Amino acid sequence: MALLKSRIKVAVIGAGAAGLCCGRHLIAEPDRFEFDIYEQQDDVGGTWRFSTYIGEDQYGLPVHSSMYKNLRTNLPKEVMAFPDFPFQDWDGRSFLHHTEVLNYLEEYAKHYGLYERIKFRKLIENIRPLKQENMTEWAVSFSDVVTKEKETYIYDAVMVCNGHYSVPYFPEIPGLNDFKGVVIHSHDYREPQDFKDLKVVVLGAGASGIDIAIEVSSVAKEVILSHNTPPKTCPLPSNTSQEKGIESVEESSVTFIGGKKYKCDVLIICTGYLYHYPFFDPSCNVEIGDQKVSPLYLHMFLIDYPTLAIWAVPKLIIPFPIYDQQSKVFLKFLKGLIELPSPEVMRAETEKDFNSRLEAGFKARHAHVMPGDWQWEYDNALCELGKIDPVPPAVRNLFRHVHHLRTLDVIHYKDTNYNLVDNKTFKQVN
Ligand SMILES: Cc1cc2nc3c(=O)[nH]c(=O)nc-3n(C[C@H](O)[C@H](O)[C@H](O)COP(=O)(O)OP(=O)(O)OC[C@H]3O[C@@H](n4cnc5c(N)ncnc54)[C@H](O)[C@@H]3O)c2cc1C
Ligand SMILES: NC(=O)c1ccc[n+]([C@@H]2O[C@H](COP(=O)([O-])OP(=O)(O)OC[C@H]3O[C@@H](n4cnc5c(N)ncnc54)[C@H](OP(=O)(O)O)[C@@H]3O)[C@@H](O)[C@H]2O)c1
Repeated sequence: MALLKSRIKVAVIGAGAAGLCCGRHLIAEPDRFEFDIYEQQDDVGGTWRFSTYIGEDQYGLPVHSSMYKNLRTNLPKEVMAFPDFPFQDWDGRSFLHHTEVLNYLEEYAKHYGLYERIKFRKLIENIRPLKQENMTEWAVSFSDVVTKEKETYIYDAVMVCNGHYSVPYFPEIPGLNDFKGVVIHSHDYREPQDFKDLKVVVLGAGASGIDIAIEVSSVAKEVILSHNTPPKTCPLPSNTSQEKGIESVEESSVTFIGGKKYKCDVLIICTGYLYHYPFFDPSCNVEIGDQKVSPLYLHMFLIDYPTLAIWAVPKLIIPFPIYDQQSKVFLKFLKGLIELPSPEVMRAETEKDFNSRLEAGFKARHAHVMPGDWQWEYDNALCELGKIDPVPPAVRNLFRHVHHLRTLDVIHYKDTNYNLVDNKTFKQVN
């Protein structure tokens, strides 16, 4: 299934962390790859490029970034970094402000000479397979977000890196539209000051829900963290408590599952985001179900046309190192150095992966979620296919350590700093 071409032409969609990582590996092999990176915004960084706009940006596009003003990373920089490009020291701090991550991505793009390869302010509108006798080419159509001029270029392969934390998921909650107070999604949350002295309900206890509840509690009168996961056992701020998820909403109150009513001023909906690929032509046969993108082999290769792959579909992973693994494997496949199983086998293995999740007690909408060791099993599977080295034990162990610390002390865990001593060992430095 390799592309029997001496030079392979690749389109990369997006210049966030994933798209830059693809570019970094493509540019390393100028004899094998020609490529263009398409980016709708006017600079790199994707979600790490904080926006003061709410709703639409300066070009009339939906705001892409979900960053808020005070956000610090929930992973130490020693875990977050791409394998061949450490973060700068930042006074030894491990958990960085979002501006420092953006700086890192800008430096990465500069270091690898990627800026010249990015077509900025180009919005990908359609991606369509063109079936030839023995292979598929891809028609990639885009518009300039300023001039609106449209163009189509042809490529041998496509690396889709458009991110999936931009389109808010709002659960259907009876009465939500009747609420007279403020309702916002975490995507539109920017800073806590807007909620001073108010009674706030934060729905959802993923990273956004917990982090936003903690920061809003510093100014709010009261915060309720409402969620359906097991109650957090670690200390929360003194004005913050937990309740089950929301059953219904009335004009000035919510009713939690179980019947308890609570009068409040604000609902912050932190229920996550939707996978969104508006540019796939129907002929790509990509289906987006309830938080499930299919048919994807190893959560990335489009089974019917594997010269197209999607980055960053797995959730609860260490994003940058896993993007790096995905990039190495995909480029080896394009070069014909590794082979994918037949489409039938890929389908069967994908189905098996999904069923094993259900058997392990996951919900169907957790098709791409990789808690605990699921992420390392995924990394191992990529390594087996791609004949590449796994994420080093030091990084895996530090990730596990931080995950555990977060369950014990979610308020203060970001005050700890680490060093990677060698491939196997990390050290806590204070
Ligand atoms: C609030 C928040 C906090 C996070 N905190 C952490 C953290 O602490 N540590 C961590 O490792 N990860 C964190 N993440 C995860 C983060 O999403 C990943 O680290 C990573 O940055 C995602 O990179 P990406 O390239 O997949 O997507 P994005 O960064 O979203 O980049 C996608 C790019 O594609 C472009 N694009 C989209 N559609 C089109 C189109 N049609 N045409 C052209 N261009 C397009 C976008 O403009 C964007 O630049 C966080 C995410 C969020 C939302
Ligand atoms: N650096 C940081 O501190 C930081 C801060 C914020 C976000 N982030 C990152 O941003 C990304 C997105 O995180 P996120 O928290 O926005 O999304 P998320 O990880 O998808 O979490 C959303 C949560 O909402 C829950 N939920 C969905 N519908 C619900 C309902 N009706 N009632 C109650 N709960 C409901 C989900 O539960 P189910 O799983 O059961 O569906 C899930 O636990 C992640 O990568 C995260 O790490 C990082």
